[in-house]
Amino acid sequence: MVLVETRALVKRFGSFTAVDGISFSVGSGEVVGFLGPNGAGKSTTMRLIAGFLEPTAGSAHICGHDSHADPVSARLRLGYLPEGAPLYPDMSVGAFLEFVAGMRGLDSARTRERLAEIVESIELGSVWNRRIDALSKGYKRRVGIAQAMVHDPDVLILDEPTDGLDPNQKHEVRELIRSIAANKAIIISTHILEEVEAVCTRAIIIARGRMLADATPAELIAKTPETGPDGMARSGSLRLEDYFREITRTPVEA
Ligand SMILES: Nc1ncnc2c1ncn2[C@@H]1O[C@H](COP(=O)(O)OP(=O)(O)OP(=O)(O)O)[C@@H](O)[C@H]1O
Ligand SMILES: [Mg+2]
Repeated sequence: MVLVETRALVKRFGSFTAVDGISFSVGSGEVVGFLGPNGAGKSTTMRLIAGFLEPTAGSAHICGHDSHADPVSARLRLGYLPEGAPLYPDMSVGAFLEFVAGMRGLDSARTRERLAEIVESIELGSVWNRRIDALSKGYKRRVGIAQAMVHDPDVLILDEPTDGLDPNQKHEVRELIRSIAANKAIIISTHILEEVEAVCTRAIIIARGRMLADATPAELIAKTPETGPDGMARSGSLRLEDYFREITRTPVEA
């Protein structure tokens, strides 16, 4: 079942084209990794799908609802972690997540149940009563991931979810994504190619607003030789890196 669909999505800022005709669909059970150099258009594409930016042309649909024409229906089915994750700095972690659950229409029993699950899976117990602005970068990121998941949405769009997390938490968040993926469509962006190999069922490489590749990580890895230029054997994620560098080498912000 298709849960996310973009059709010839275009976003221009003045004369600059940030997203230049992106079309793909994501089905239930898929975890799609967005890869691309800085400035490639990954976050802009995610904002367009999430309905936080108006497309110049084309459309994006979440569970059949147009993100721009019918944003309320689309957002009910969506959890979104924006880049940098703006949060309410004066609230405690617990109060903020209860507030999000309330906004999402969860009753108090369901709120308790979901927050208990999330506290455990994202390990937020130790900071539950702390003010958000007093948290470290990694814990702020965790709160951002938690708010996206509170209502157990069918579609998750997570813009660099593991950015700033320590290696243990990176591992935990990847495990979490894998464990919930079965009947959801998940799109993550990342610069960590190892992460794509570890969690993604599919990788979309974007540069200069266009899709350069859309395949499974294994298919992309198979496109480069097993032996690197130095004659040494290359592992999966290093080969993915070779392929990424080969097809995205032209700088974006030229
Ligand atoms: N509101 C805006 N106004 C003007 N230009 C913008 C705006 N938002 C994004 N851009 C430009 O669009 C391009 C794509 O940006 P985007 O944030 O989507 O890249 P990205 O692939 O997410 O990069 P990164 O890996 O650095 O997060 C960049 O050149 C950026 O400067
Ligand atoms: Mg970005």
